[in-house]
Amino acid sequence: MSLDDIKRIAISTGGGDAPGLNAVIRGAVLSAINKGWEVYGIRDGYNGFLFPERYPDGGLERLTEKKVEGITHLGGTIIGTTNKGNPLRFPIQDKDGNWKEIDRTDEIVAAARRKEIDAVIAIGGDGSLEIAGVLADKGLRVVGVPKTIDNDLEKTVITFGFDTALSFATECIDRLHSTANAHQRVMVVEVMGRYAGWIALECGISSDSHVILIPEIEYDMEKVAEKILEREKDGHKHSIVVVAEGAKPKEGSVSIVSSELGRKEVLGGIGEKVAHEITKLTNKETRSIVLGHLLRGGSPSAFDRLLSLRFGAAAVRALCEGQQGIMVALDPPKVNYVPLKEATSRMKAVDLDCDIMRTARELGISFGD
Ligand code: F6P
Repeated sequence: MSLDDIKRIAISTGGGDAPGLNAVIRGAVLSAINKGWEVYGIRDGYNGFLFPERYPDGGLERLTEKKVEGITHLGGTIIGTTNKGNPLRFPIQDKDGNWKEIDRTDEIVAAARRKEIDAVIAIGGDGSLEIAGVLADKGLRVVGVPKTIDNDLEKTVITFGFDTALSFATECIDRLHSTANAHQRVMVVEVMGRYAGWIALECGISSDSHVILIPEIEYDMEKVAEKILEREKDGHKHSIVVVAEGAKPKEGSVSIVSSELGRKEVLGGIGEKVAHEITKLTNKETRSIVLGHLLRGGSPSAFDRLLSLRFGAAAVRALCEGQQGIMVALDPPKVNYVPLKEATSRMKAVDLDCDIMRTARELGISFGD
């Protein structure tokens, strides 16, 4: 297929939503329309292709200039998303009632061909971009856009959604300081991030928190208690402890709420466990709060809006330049293209020697180690 053959493209948003998805859609739609292309949104990840019968519009929605008007500031995604039923590991029941996982990506490629879609812009995190890589290997022209509040994708300095989540978490903790101080309590704040500690680390530092527990460092509760009691001795009667949902104690395990076939396990509950331990070890009144999905909702920050619009426009530019099987990535001041496989081959964990970590330690923040 030559470049001039691109006439119709489709956009998919997959995995957990992140602030900025609609801005990426707008950036891509307006740029594509400017090239004379038609643009469609695939409903709910790839469900529009895999289950067209469920949708009155057959699973594909035409995205016009009007449809994307005034959506840059909106959270969520106007075309829907899902983090269930990964088409690479789709759960089905065999005739004996046993569950197994099958690969349904051939069906996505076939649906795209049937619907005369010449290229797909896949907006997603590690899971969705892994699917995008397989679709590209199977001959579909695909360009990925890195989304996730967790910021755990390699090869891009930042993913869109992270800045908004970070700013909101910081604001929430700012508010917790005064109530913790008034009651001389310890407040434990659990934040999302899966197995990467970026949100916890950066909101913890930005909000003057005293202890930060991240998945990259197994924590020791005795050390956490020591820090709180040390503060107490110095006359500071309240403490703030930020816990990443994927953090785990030395010789302990990650706190999992549920795990199902065809989707990632749901993490949660570590904040409450840490709070309980703190009360036991320090005798201080402790409360825990889970910020959870609040970090994914709401309007994207100006930074995320701009980055998302840039990513959307860059995805269309990449297609025009004949790129495929790549992800657009921020490499300031440019937006670059990197092979999808490089972006998803491993998770971007917090580098324990990075400047942000060193700063935190120099500020006296404890990591429970
Ligand atoms: O990957 C984004 C994320 O928000 C993680 O931080 C979190 O663990 C997960 O998604 C939650 O997913 P769900 O929406 O299924 O609860």
